[in-house]
Amino acid sequence: MLKNKKIIITGAAGFIGSYLTKALLEQNNYLILVDNFNDYYSGKEDRLNAILENYESKKDYILLKEDILNPKLYKKLDPEIDYIFHLAAQANVRHSIKYASEVSNTNIIGTINLLEFTKKIKDLRRFIFASSSSVYGNPLYTPCDEDHPKNPISPYAISKLAGEIYTNYYYNQFQIPITNLRFYTVYGPNGRPDMAIGKFFNLMLQNKPLTVYGTGEQLRDFTYISDIISGMILSSENEKAVGEPFNLGYSTPISVNELVDIMYEFTGVQRNIRYEKPQMGDVEITHSKIEKAKKILNYHPKISIHEGLKKYYAWIKERINKL
Ligand SMILES: NC(=O)c1ccc[n+]([C@@H]2O[C@H](COP(=O)([O-])OP(=O)(O)OC[C@H]3O[C@@H](n4cnc5c(N)ncnc54)[C@H](O)[C@@H]3O)[C@@H](O)[C@H]2O)c1
Repeated sequence: MLKNKKIIITGAAGFIGSYLTKALLEQNNYLILVDNFNDYYSGKEDRLNAILENYESKKDYILLKEDILNPKLYKKLDPEIDYIFHLAAQANVRHSIKYASEVSNTNIIGTINLLEFTKKIKDLRRFIFASSSSVYGNPLYTPCDEDHPKNPISPYAISKLAGEIYTNYYYNQFQIPITNLRFYTVYGPNGRPDMAIGKFFNLMLQNKPLTVYGTGEQLRDFTYISDIISGMILSSENEKAVGEPFNLGYSTPISVNELVDIMYEFTGVQRNIRYEKPQMGDVEITHSKIEKAKKILNYHPKISIHEGLKKYYAWIKERINKL
């Protein structure tokens, strides 16, 4: 477990970033939290503040409301850093189809800016890059191992692959110790409201119909947030992970139809689904092979989709009760 280290987290106010912030604060690390709190979705301030308010008196962090595209940020950052977790990005495949240049700017140029900054750091232990299963595109075989060909089919996926090519370049040419982690559909309490599970719960609880794109038979490898956080921390501590990509998934995909069945079972709401034509950029199946992460990182995801959805729904109910 990372302890007493100086760590930058970009995208700290995001879904995954806020969980990582909590996990690393609990281990007495000193955190430099970077996020521009953009308005792509709301509630980021509340989400991060709910964590930080427990640490206010301990002076265990600084929060920089800055854009990774802004050169001013890099003047403020002290290069005495042990670890960087680079999560800041414009996520969402469908959004990227409409806003390809904005997404490429944030995800590629933003990543290059951070990698350039790492050259100033004397003893960086690790630069963890949040990549995505989307780099594989429509799989030629499943489960996908890390060597599966990369055929991204959206600007978002292209930007993540470009990020990986850049991290590899900085590793090979400047010996920056990087690790690329390919996350598979991450979910859990306080999850992104633009992702299927968050959207579906919202609609169900308002008794509104869900829109499922395609037949609903597309398979997704849903991965619970605590498993992703443990994979991130394990990889950052492991010397054998330097210069390597790893899949972080649960490795047991289910169809979107099965997903909504479980959600209807929990919520007790009457099934009401509209099927529409498949969306551009969506792949037919995501299914991670995680043998490499198991063997090298000792990554063993624990939370099944059924258990994870139960936790997510319990959190939603608790919030509703507080209103
Ligand atoms: N959630 C998933 O299922 C998933 C899957 C694969 C990869 N990822 C990657 O993991 C990372 C975190 O994802 P998430 O789901 O927490 O997303 P998120 O949108 O909740 O978090 C991203 C954060 O980055 C911040 N940000 C965006 N642009 C910025 C900029 N220019 N400067 C500073 N901050 C900026 C946003 O304000 C946000 O708080 C992203 O890189 C994403 O691409 C996520």
